[in-house]
Amino acid sequence: MKALILVGGFGTRLRPLTLSFPKPLVDFANKPMILHQIEALKEVGVTEVVLAINYRPEVMINFLKDFEDKLGITITCSQETEPLGTAGPLALARDKLADGSGEPFFVLNSDVISEYPFAELIEYHKRHGGEATIMVTKVDEPSKYGVVVMEEATGRVERFVEKPKIFVGNKINAGIYLLNPSVLDRIELRPTSIEKEVFPQIAADQQLYAMVLPGFWMDVGQPRDYITGLRLYLDSLRKKSAARLATGAHVVGNVLVHESAKIGEGCLIGPDVAIGPGCVVEDGVRLSRCTVMRGVRIKKHACISNSIIGWHSTVGQWARIENMTILGEDVHVCDEVYSNGGVVLPHKEIKSSILKPEIVM
Ligand code: GDD
Ligand code: MG
Repeated sequence: MKALILVGGFGTRLRPLTLSFPKPLVDFANKPMILHQIEALKEVGVTEVVLAINYRPEVMINFLKDFEDKLGITITCSQETEPLGTAGPLALARDKLADGSGEPFFVLNSDVISEYPFAELIEYHKRHGGEATIMVTKVDEPSKYGVVVMEEATGRVERFVEKPKIFVGNKINAGIYLLNPSVLDRIELRPTSIEKEVFPQIAADQQLYAMVLPGFWMDVGQPRDYITGLRLYLDSLRKKSAARLATGAHVVGNVLVHESAKIGEGCLIGPDVAIGPGCVVEDGVRLSRCTVMRGVRIKKHACISNSIIGWHSTVGQWARIENMTILGEDVHVCDEVYSNGGVVLPHKEIKSSILKPEIVM
């Protein structure tokens, strides 16, 4: 089977992290977001993943070449010369996706995190016999997503409304699809939206089905949702493979620590923390609800909550970092500095406190 991952877009809502890496390569729970997806696809027998790219393809490809061998999966790139939206890239990659086998293929948004129940999706798709299946999930605030109205008994989608202005329902498109090759005949090679132009048409032909996604789901393309997504991911890890979570007197709740990270004496870490490869957390540090990416050093007695610390940054002694502070790559926060929601661009040194949420250029 094949899969296409939509990796276009500039990831502006996840800046400053996306100033250093394309969104799919931003670490989530200690590995690039897209690797979570590729590994799950491999598990259900996908042999080729096509990356639909319109921005910095060389960075993605160089990075993923390593994983091709490690995972034993082919990763190819379909590059747009202009952004083709969420459907145009499928038309561009038509020859790769419709290989004559007649088998359905997966399409994923690159920023969605879940348990990826792909095996269940395949089974459901085969059972209903329609042209396309989308996974849906319930959310409290449906207006920022694509909303699906479905017939409960059969799963057949009656309506698909992208970013509705008035309430239509609370089941939303989770950005995970399984499509028959015939869907490609519905898509022209031009900038076009699968949500606005393709799904409503397949629904009108009564060929679109939805499956309620079991387990958690989050679009982690915005800082607040990223932090919530980590909590949900770690909760699910606790249920499925608790042995991967950290243990010890210094750990509170769910904490993921890379095996190469070093944690000092007298720290208190958790809940909902991920500490990446090569990090050094010195003595007496307090961390909660935060992500500390590869190569970061947190000096003695610093306190970090509800924040993301980008690659290779340092946080000084007794510094206090909180309230959705996002440090880009290689940021240096001096000793005793306080950050209340600072969003700091890469390679900066922060010498004085940031007292209210603001962008530091
Ligand atoms: N190749 C390519 N080209 N990819 C693109 C382009 C493009 O021109 N534009 C967007 N993408 C990719 C993004 O990288 C992302 O993986 C996916 O398409 C969806 O784009 P987002 O910008 O993340 O859309 P959204 O989050 O506002 O809404 C989408 O996701 C929701 C679930 O998170 C829609 O699919 C909604 O219906 C859905 O509910
Ligand atoms: Mg998104």
